Amino acid sequence: MTTSPRRLEGKVALITGAASGIGECTAKLFAEHGAKIVIADIQDQLGQAVCEAIGSSNSIYVHCDVTNENDVKNAVDIAVATYGKLDIMFNNAGIMDPNKPRINDIEKTDFERVLSVNVTGIFLGMKHAARVMIPARNGSIISTASVCSNIGGVNSHAYTCAKHAVVGLTKNTAVELGQFGIRVNCVSPYGVASPMATYITRLEGEAFENMVNGVANLKGVTLKVDDVAKAVLFLVSDDAQYISGHNMLIDGGFSIVNPSFGMFKYPQSS
Ligand SMILES: NC(=O)c1ccc[n+]([C@@H]2O[C@H](COP(=O)([O-])OP(=O)(O)OC[C@H]3O[C@@H](n4cnc5c(N)ncnc54)[C@H](O)[C@@H]3O)[C@@H](O)[C@H]2O)c1
Repeated sequence: MTTSPRRLEGKVALITGAASGIGECTAKLFAEHGAKIVIADIQDQLGQAVCEAIGSSNSIYVHCDVTNENDVKNAVDIAVATYGKLDIMFNNAGIMDPNKPRINDIEKTDFERVLSVNVTGIFLGMKHAARVMIPARNGSIISTASVCSNIGGVNSHAYTCAKHAVVGLTKNTAVELGQFGIRVNCVSPYGVASPMATYITRLEGEAFENMVNGVANLKGVTLKVDDVAKAVLFLVSDDAQYISGHNMLIDGGFSIVNPSFGMFKYPQSS
């Protein structure tokens, strides 16, 4: 088998939340691999800057609030009008809510805001991607979940609930869309020092990384946005042509550990 060094040659990708963090890094990596990119976000200046960094012949910026169905429909239609098709939909936009650990302190509006962006936004992305991918009998839809899709106690109730829901949507749409040759997957990263994570924790880059590394399972390596982008690239590429309905954990084994018994916690001789 020969593998092209440019794994997305001729493909068209739409990425939500691409003005920053994981989405920005993935947009740049996809472009390096030959894809045309539609950058969709609500941070217009940052989104335009990502577009300029990639090059205007290979990318376009669209203002898109993922909670607004017209915006999502418009972003998908712009991808098709500009580049002729949509091969890859990356539903990545997401928010975290202020950390209020007690359920009695959480306002309904705050809970619904998180679900609106992190779940409804992904539903709308899947819906409008499917609208153009089904007639083409081809496509790859991927979404950003989180380790919080797999375990409790890491983030807020709303965020944990929302990320579990992303896995549910991923599985159900993978079942529906398989008959059309469309694959649907999601990725679940551990903590990565993006603007969102550092803003919520009030810890700057390295301080945030030290905090998450301190409780990580896998030692000696720090998770970066680049690691997430590479996993997304694999899942949307033809190298993953038979992978669908999968939630890929990018967490160094964090969410499979229950440290209660501490069976392996003592230093081992080599
Ligand atoms: N950083 C982490 O530790 C971490 C871990 C696991 C999962 N995630 C998930 O990764 C995804 C990307 O987050 P990030 O860490 O790169 O943070 P980020 O803040 O750098 O990027 C999120 C982007 O989403 C955009 N966005 C927010 N609301 C939007 C809306 N309504 N419509 C369109 N765009 C909107 C923001 O403007 C921003 O550009 C999110 O879904 C997040 O939940 C992050």
